[in-house]
Amino acid sequence: MMRHFLRDDDLSPAEQTEVLALAAAMKAQPFEHQPFAGPRTVAMIFDKPTLRTQASFAAGIAELGGHPLLVEGRLAGIGHRESVADVARVLGRQASAIVWRTFEQSRIDEMAAYAGVPVVNALTDEFHPCQLLADLLTVQEHKGTLAGLKVAFLGDAACNMGNSWAVAGAIAGMEVVFGCPEGYAPAYGSAVVTDDPVAAVKDADVVVTDTWVSMGKEEEAEARRAIFGPYGVTSELMAHAAPDAIVLHCLPAYRGSEIDAEVIDGPQSVVWDEAENRRHVQKAILAWLETHRHEEGP
Ligand code: NVA
Repeated sequence: MMRHFLRDDDLSPAEQTEVLALAAAMKAQPFEHQPFAGPRTVAMIFDKPTLRTQASFAAGIAELGGHPLLVEGRLAGIGHRESVADVARVLGRQASAIVWRTFEQSRIDEMAAYAGVPVVNALTDEFHPCQLLADLLTVQEHKGTLAGLKVAFLGDAACNMGNSWAVAGAIAGMEVVFGCPEGYAPAYGSAVVTDDPVAAVKDADVVVTDTWVSMGKEEEAEARRAIFGPYGVTSELMAHAAPDAIVLHCLPAYRGSEIDAEVIDGPQSVVWDEAENRRHVQKAILAWLETHRHEEGP
């Protein structure tokens, strides 16, 4: 059995802790760990737009001694020009690991089944587990701990970020409460959900939001802005959170929609640390999978 990181619960609680500790060590000593020295190649494929993910994986793979190979999703045409399974078998012969941002989770599951090397989910419609590791590292840095903290996730909790927070937050022992309209609760994990944004953020240590219009949902943009309107993270809403609460957003952010400028650009926001931490946690998961590739998963 090859280990992959396709969804947040591909790591057990102990393994999640271990990967976060490795990420913190790599952040302190960025060039100390060279598991891809050679350089060995790590392939990155993007079927959806990217800024942070491409930049942080490319920089991180280089810091690990490896070579980041960008495979253009549009040129490769995975699933129509050739099958996911054939792409997996070909790339698995060139690269030591494969990083993929795509649509349905079933696509990355199929990639993992045929690649013969570890596969990392760089965002699917269902999950964004690398972002969650970055979010958890950021919370740990600012709060000193994870277990027992209250997290409020506001807005579109049915998206990849909502699902990943429901699963990874529980693995970390956090209390995650979703403030979202009916019909937009996470589809995974056993989430605590309320349609009252004030109740959701009440005394929260961490307030999280994400765009109301995820990649692929653009044609619903107008309807979504109306549905999610009451769930925007404003200063008034933040007044109900703990006074020392921190604010996370995976970016890109739409100021005036899911978050107000004075919040994301204000003193409680840690979004730039969060964006930087993508590099450190992704290095850690790539290095961790490299040494644990053949171990039993949770
Ligand atoms: N939920 C967002 C996350 C962007 C990083 C999306 O899927 O577009």
